[in-house]
This record gives sequence, structure tokens and C-alpha cells, in this order.
Amino acid sequence: MSLGLAIVGCGKMGRLVAELAREYGFDVRAKFTRENNLRDGAIVPEFLRGIDAAVEFTTPEAAPDNLRRLAALGINTVCGTTGWYEHLPAIHESVAAARTGLVYSPNFSVGVNVFIQAVAHAACFLAKYPEYEAWGWEIHHSAKKDAPSGTLKKLAQEIRASGYNRTLTLTANRAGAHPGTHEIGFDSAADTITLRHTARSREGFARGALRSARWLAGKQGVFEFREILGELN
Ligand SMILES: NC(=O)c1ccc[n+]([C@@H]2O[C@H](COP(=O)([O-])OP(=O)(O)OC[C@H]3O[C@@H](n4cnc5c(N)ncnc54)[C@H](OP(=O)(O)O)[C@@H]3O)[C@@H](O)[C@H]2O)c1
Repeated sequence: MSLGLAIVGCGKMGRLVAELAREYGFDVRAKFTRENNLRDGAIVPEFLRGIDAAVEFTTPEAAPDNLRRLAALGINTVCGTTGWYEHLPAIHESVAAARTGLVYSPNFSVGVNVFIQAVAHAACFLAKYPEYEAWGWEIHHSAKKDAPSGTLKKLAQEIRASGYNRTLTLTANRAGAHPGTHEIGFDSAADTITLRHTARSREGFARGALRSARWLAGKQGVFEFREILGELN
């Protein structure tokens, strides 16, 4: 029997998740847009009947409130929205109090998560070679609101956590319809190492979010996508 799915945010990502949901055993039974959600307070019990999970792709301003409301109503949620992580400790509390589940990630692509691990590995080696200086760069479509992207910030955070403490400059471009490229480089007088991930479409993100929603069924707690990668199917 299929599981009931709510789509919160019906933009580019929300629409793609809805399109692919059946392949992952979900039946889309509710859709929340900015209009119906804000005007009518749509994340309320009467609109969540038969819903087992929600996938949230909205905006940094809207996500924390949506996540709190979904947790309070007992709905396990996957959140792909970026740029709201300063609210993460409060969201942890809401999810724990409600005994629900949340998977979040600035990037639900399996490839990007492997890329992050490769970057961390390189940074760990190069931390002890002062002749190597580092940079981070990304490009996304011009409608993307946060810059630098959540993924570039995450890469920088992983580089630091790997012991690389020298200057790391981050730059972001916004143009056209680009689904997202992230690049980390290490440069010395002798050579350059460039590690780059290029997304060809948004499909990888949508599939990662749906796999996470299926994995989250019946679970409690807050998880980052990369922690559960090995358990997904
Ligand atoms: N984690 C990942 O793998 C991943 C991948 C791609 C994108 N993202 C992130 O996901 C988010 C959405 O991306 P997108 O490309 O889908 O953006 P988008 O096309 O702009 O869609 C966002 C949608 O959220 C709606 N919205 C705004 N406030 C809302 C509310 N309170 N309740 C319900 N819906 C609301 C917007 O409605 P209006 O159009 O009416 O304003 C819009 O349709 C961004 O933060 C982006 O950075 C993450």
C-alpha cells in the first residue's frame, strides 16, 4: 500500500518530487503553496489526513515555521530548503518534543555527498602543507536566493573540520538556469588540484529526498542526509 505524501512548496523542486513520488511508493495527497499555506494556515490537521510524510522545499524564511508545524502534527519530514540552519537547535527541540523524524540536507544528491567526503579527505592531507592555498566557488541559476549556497558552506565547514585552517575564499555566481556546480581547489607554485561536482539536473536532489522520506517512515530523530546514505535503497 502506498504512503501518503504532502508536498510543502510547489516550486521547481516540489513539482519534481511530486512527479517522481510514485516510483518510491508515495501517493501525493496534499500540496501546500505559499498562497494556501500562509493565507489559510493550511498545515493543520484537516489538510493532513492520510499523510505519512512531508517533503519541504520552500524558502529560508518559510522553512523553520513549516518544520515546527509539521512536527507538532506528528508528520515525519524531509527538508531540502537551504539557508535556515541557524534555527536548527530550535527545530531539534520541536522534533524531539513531538517524537517525529526529520532528514535535512543542503544537498540531497548522492554524488555531492561523495564529493564532500573526497574534499574533506584532500583537505586533511593538505592541512600540513602550507604551500597549498584553497578556494571554493559555485554557480547556480539566477533565481537561487542564498549565496554562497548551503553546499559551498558545508564544503568549507568540512574543510575546516579536516584541520585545514588557512585562508579559504568562497565566491558565488548566479546566472541563467544552471542546476549547480561546486568547485574546491588547492593551488601551490608547483601544481593545482581541482575537485568539481556538476549537477546535470535537479532529478538527483528529488530522488535523494524521496529515498530519505521512505527511509524515515516510523523513525524518530533528526538526521543529516549524509549520515543515512549508507542505509538508503
Ligand atoms: N537540498 C537540496 O538538494 C536542494 C536542491 C535544490 C534546491 N534546494 C533548495 O530548496 C529550496 C527550494 O528550491 P526550488 O528550486 O524549488 O525553489 P522555487 O522554485 O523558488 O520554489 C520554492 C517554492 O516555495 C514556495 N513557498 C514559499 N513560501 C512558502 C510557504 N510558506 N509555504 C509553502 N510554500 C512556500 C514558493 O511559492 P511562491 O512561488 O508563491 O513564492 C515556491 O513555489 C531553496 O532553498 C533551494 O536552495 C535544495
